Formats: sequence, C-alpha cells, structure tokens
Amino acid sequence: MRIVFLSAASELGGAERCLLDLLAALPRAGGAELALVAPSDGPLVERARALGVETAVLPMPPALRRFGDSALSLAPGAVGSLRFAWSAAAATVAAARYAVRLRRLLASLRPDVVHSNGLKCHLLAAIARPAAPLVWHMRDALRTRRLVGRALRVLAPRARGSVAISRAVAADVSACLPGLPVDVVYDGIDLDEFSPGPGDGCALDEIGGLPAARGHVVRIGLVATYARWKGQDLFLRACARVAALDAAARFFVAGGPIYATRGSQFSREELDALAHRLGLAGRVGFVPFQQDPAWLFRSLDVVVHASTRPEPFGRTIAEAMACGRPVVAARDAGAAEQVTDSRDALLYPPGDEAALARALARLAGDPELRARVGAAARATALARFSALRTAREVLGLHARAAPRTTSARSAVGEGGAASGAAGRSHEPRRAAEVESNG
Ligand code: GLC
Repeated sequence: MRIVFLSAASELGGAERCLLDLLAALPRAGGAELALVAPSDGPLVERARALGVETAVLPMPPALRRFGDSALSLAPGAVGSLRFAWSAAAATVAAARYAVRLRRLLASLRPDVVHSNGLKCHLLAAIARPAAPLVWHMRDALRTRRLVGRALRVLAPRARGSVAISRAVAADVSACLPGLPVDVVYDGIDLDEFSPGPGDGCALDEIGGLPAARGHVVRIGLVATYARWKGQDLFLRACARVAALDAAARFFVAGGPIYATRGSQFSREELDALAHRLGLAGRVGFVPFQQDPAWLFRSLDVVVHASTRPEPFGRTIAEAMACGRPVVAARDAGAAEQVTDSRDALLYPPGDEAALARALARLAGDPELRARVGAAARATALARFSALRTAREVLGLHARAAPRTTSARSAVGEGGAASGAAGRSHEPRRAAEVESNG
C-alpha cells in the first residue's frame, strides 16, 4: 500500500505533529510505503525526511496560503465583505491552478490512497481529482466553519472516506457532509517522548522573561499556537484572578503565531498589552513556540486548555497528560472526550473565566491533588493515546478505501478501524500522466 499524505502547512502545529506521529508509526503498524507533499520546505518536511518518508514540495502561492475563513472577521461591514470577496476570488484562481499541478504530481507519485491533512488540503485534493481514492483526515469542528463546510459539502462525493479525530468531529462530519463515511480515530502521540520526569522551571522562567523564582512557586501554563480561538485572552483573564489570590503562582503563555492564514491569530503585542492591562506584568512569561514541547509540559505544575470554540481533539491535553501533569480543560467536544472530570483532569464550562480561575487556584494550592490527578492522567494517556493504535486504525480505513491493494489487506492486523465504512463504489485507476515535479 502506497499512501501519499498532503499537508497544507509546513510548520509544526498540532495537526502537523499528529501527522508526523502517524508517519512514524505506520511502518510499525503494517509497513505502508509513505510519501508526503507539503507547500514549502520547513520543519515538517525535514522531520518527515528524517523518518525515511519520501517528500515533495509543491510551493503554494501566498494568496492561497494566507486565505482562510478567519479573514471574514478581519474587517466587518461592507468594505470588509468586499475585501474578503476579492481575496476569495484570488484564492479560487490560485486553488484551481494549484490543483492542476497537484494532480500531475500525484500521478507521478502513484499512490494507492491519497490522505489529506487539513481543510485546505481536503478542498485542493478534491479539486485535483486524483486517480486514487481520497481520504480526508478531519481535524476541525466543521460546525464553526460554515463557509469552508459548504465548499466541502460540494466536493465530498469525491472523497472515499474520512477520519475524524474525535466523536465530536465525527458528529459534525455526519451533519455537514451527509453520505461521507467517517471513522473516529483518536490521535496518538509518542508516549516515550511525552513521559513524566523532572522539568526545568528555572529555564522556563528565563525563556519566559520572568525573574528567577525565590522560594515556592507554582507554574501554570497554556501551550498552543496563537489561533485566537485557543483562548489566550480567556487564560490571561483567569490568571489575573488567580494572581490576586495566590502569590506563588506564575503564568506562562507558550506558543506563537505560526500559521500564515490571515486574521486567524493573536500577535504577541496584543497578548502583551492584555497582560499589562490585567496587571500581570512580571507574573506572565511568554515562551516562544517550541518544536519539541515535552520539556515545557514537564516544567509546568498545571497545564491549561482554554479554547473558546469546540476543540476537535486537543493534542496538548494528551501531551500534558502523558507527561503526568494535571490539566484544566474546557468541557466541550473532543477535549471533554479525552478525560474523566475530577479523576484525570479538571473540567470547567467553556469560556467561563471564573470557573477556570477557581480550578486553577484549587490545583495551585493543593500539591497532593496535583500529584493524584497527574498520575491518573498518565495512566489514561497510556491506555488511550498510543500512536501505534492510531496508525493501525488508519491503515484499516485505507485498506477499505483501496480494497484492491492486497498488500493493504494483509497489512492490517487486529487493530483495524472499528467503525464506519469507507465503501463508496469507485474504480481505482492508475494515473496515466506521470510527471516528476518537486
Ligand atoms: C487541530 C485541532 C486540535 C487537534 C490537532 C491535532 O489543531 O484544532 O484540536 O488536537 O489538530 O489533531
């Protein structure tokens, strides 16, 4: 079975890190032959190559890279709508051209299955109409993405099946894209890399620009890209409440605006200004985006999830839990599916800064509770977040999407995907056009 993965980003956000974990685990799960197409060189491509994955770069024009439905919120009103319409038109032209090149590249790569990672890629791959069956790996809450949801709906008949990273995402897929087969496959992570152990709080303080700690401190942090819906503003407001109660608490916002999509992210200046307005100067450290964040989780005493939109899965929750850290997470969508409240994490109503602050203050003041919840979190991570399990389930889905590839059938062990059916009638064809590109 030869699988070609498509990524719309070359940076290492959660979606790309999950893709890398999948690429690393697939050979162990059944020996698939893997290739990756990315829009530019960068850490994703470098790491995929280091794993022995064949890579190809198909440069994506800026009009397409930067375009996303978040641009709609940039300038409301008539002028904003006009501007949005203009950039949408430019992106549509760029997408059509890109899809032609993508189709040629895919033909030259001769996949048995094309597996796209991310909304932009789902659209581009469907427009490209590859000869091989197309599988969409759904990592977004479609109900919050109306515009792109509509475009996907039109193109969904071209996809053979989909992987949803949580039951919440699968429910959205079924509602927005009726008829598209969907399998729930939870993301897996590297449980050796993300494991309990001593952290380095002093290094964290230093990188975050905070003075060296004197005496007892409790470090509370949010680790996320600066996508606005990841809730850095909510987190800072909750921190201000905790800071007033607990002098030992210090706070960290770790991450950065790593994606190119216009209008989707906070800037560091915005968050700095908010921290100042909240009186948090000297209590909040800003830690730049880390490509290998395991040490960061180990250096925190409490990890926060503050997304203000339904979280499709919440990889950082799984990572922190695997490191044996207590997590406080919004009780919503994929985030809530991963944990059991008050046992291996604490949950609060999404968007409720007072409830978040209460949970943080509780954990900050109770080391035994932190240890108990952290130990239960590690046990849950071991039981649920194995990358090998994820890879086996994805391979099972591929085998059903491309049933003619006998190697695929034999590659799938007992761990085949448990639900859904990638079973539309489709004649797998071999591409006629072969062109080497990138
Ligand atoms: C996306 C989702 C996040 C998920 C990650 C990996 O970034 O927003 O919830 O954890 O993909 O699947």
